[in-house]
Amino acid sequence: MGMMKKTNLNEWLNESTKLLAEQSELASLEARVILCHILDKPREWLVTHPDFELDDHQTDKANQMIARIQTGEPLPYLIGKQAFYGLDFKVTPDVLIPRPETELLIEECITWLEEHPDRRKLADIGTGSGAIAITLADRFEDLQVTAIDISGKALDVARQNAQLLNVDSQIVFIKNDLLDNIFDSFDILAANLPYIPSEKLITLQVARYEPLLALDGGQDGLVIIKRLLHQAREHLKPGGMILLEIEEGQSESVQKLVDTLMPGVAKSILIDLANHPRFLKIMV
Ligand SMILES: C[S@@+](CC[C@H](N)C(=O)[O-])C[C@H]1O[C@@H](n2cnc3c(N)ncnc32)[C@H](O)[C@@H]1O
Repeated sequence: MGMMKKTNLNEWLNESTKLLAEQSELASLEARVILCHILDKPREWLVTHPDFELDDHQTDKANQMIARIQTGEPLPYLIGKQAFYGLDFKVTPDVLIPRPETELLIEECITWLEEHPDRRKLADIGTGSGAIAITLADRFEDLQVTAIDISGKALDVARQNAQLLNVDSQIVFIKNDLLDNIFDSFDILAANLPYIPSEKLITLQVARYEPLLALDGGQDGLVIIKRLLHQAREHLKPGGMILLEIEEGQSESVQKLVDTLMPGVAKSILIDLANHPRFLKIMV
């Protein structure tokens, strides 16, 4: 029988942090997240067990994950989860990794729903992991959500998340192209649709691992959003709200689209904490 080599936990963390530091500002955190995932321990456990000895199998697995991160693979896909607005979402390469920016859309919806306690029908168009639909269903137990995606594989992940987070009774999942042939109307239409211009996309790191279907917004990035704006009005109840995530440089062009496609509605652009335009808000 061969000798089992042991690796000291703290030494592994120091080494791996150095390796990741070349490309990531969060190197130390990432190394710890990987180790916790492999050892199935909470983060605090590492602090109290600096001299734990990893066996060969654990060391190999951990080293393989470091190597994959070094090639650019996103950590959430490796560990299969991502936190969003305080909840843990399962993620696979079939769904976009939910981003902190989108939490602002959640906050805007929460404020609106608190101010309108009798309005409880929401559609999340392009639901992906289910981040928007599920977070809001979790927050408002009387909220009725329709979650739509064109990707069946993404919907499978979203359905699992709804079950894991106990909100599946509040959400109907539909595989569909935007609101085509849906004869229902809503108080809120919320969407984080693909908005990156196709040409820009090929230059971006995200496009190597995250689904193109979740990112590619066509020639000017606004092809899908434009189609949704075309359909939106007849699916929105009077006094309802539309909230769409957009890219920084799109605030002018998207407002022009609204003026053309939905003349007379009240529109505004919401900015994020870094002062970047991030969301289009429409009230009818
Ligand atoms: C940017 S991701 C957003 C995922 C999730 N809502 C979030 O914020 O993390 C966009 C999602 O829209 C879906 N999608 C793209 N085109 C669509 C269409 N025509 N109809 C419905 N969903 C679409 C993609 O499959 C993807 O899941």
